[in-house]
Amino acid sequence: MRFSRKLRKLFSGDAIASASEHLSRLTHPVNTNCLLDDIDWLQFKDLRHKYPYRPGSPQINRFEDIVYWIDINVERAQDLWLDRAPPLRLLDLGSGAGYFLYVCKHFGHDVLGFDTDIEPLFGATTELLGVPRIVGRIERLTPLPEFGRKFDLVTAHRICFHRVGKVREGVEWSPADWEFFVNDIRTRLLTPNGRLLLDFNPRPDGSSFFSPELRAFFVSQGARIFRSKALLGMDPKVRPRFKQI
Ligand SMILES: C[S@@+](CC[C@H](N)C(=O)[O-])C[C@H]1O[C@@H](n2cnc3c(N)ncnc32)[C@H](O)[C@@H]1O
Repeated sequence: MRFSRKLRKLFSGDAIASASEHLSRLTHPVNTNCLLDDIDWLQFKDLRHKYPYRPGSPQINRFEDIVYWIDINVERAQDLWLDRAPPLRLLDLGSGAGYFLYVCKHFGHDVLGFDTDIEPLFGATTELLGVPRIVGRIERLTPLPEFGRKFDLVTAHRICFHRVGKVREGVEWSPADWEFFVNDIRTRLLTPNGRLLLDFNPRPDGSSFFSPELRAFFVSQGARIFRSKALLGMDPKVRPRFKQI
């Protein structure tokens, strides 16, 4: 890489935001011991015997690795300033094992998960972590269910629900599908200052989820895009901030 390009990368918006995120975590350390102490480790260990890996199930889903997942989810929460924010109502879509909401609950937030019940291990970990969850499925061009309340923050991490058909076919939601989804959340689920955080897996070749077309779409919706994440507020004309206190 040429020196000028290296220098540009070093001082790019993302690099500066990354450094500030890192600094913010360092200056506001979280003691994960209390989060770990509250977990019933024996029961967690037992889960793998009850729900052994299905043949062909992905190895990354070692959700009984408590320390690893607590650390990741503390960082996710810190990057949204949830360790410092006043109590918020949070909905996590595709909540998986429930660790993100467990951490958020520890920080005093009112949390709810939403996921399918295809993976029985997730139901069991969510229950052990004492996190409430509604079972359902996110479908293309279909409104989410009525949750009976609005949320200050709707999150989705390592999103999979936008895949249409089999993973290897590589078909996914179009910008029009995303527009329907974002609009549904904005109009029915978010409070007036509410935010929606979408965090995407990289693509199989390691590139960003945000193809030029998808980046343009999310930017047109007022998203603040940072690495794998798009943060959207209620008003497409106002770019929301990760920091909110
Ligand atoms: C890769 S896991 C991520 C779990 C968790 N968010 C995390 O980051 O650790 C994807 C999650 O999305 C859920 N999911 C996939 N498709 C879904 C759909 N159509 N509706 C709701 N949840 C879905 C899966 O069950 C799984 O819990």
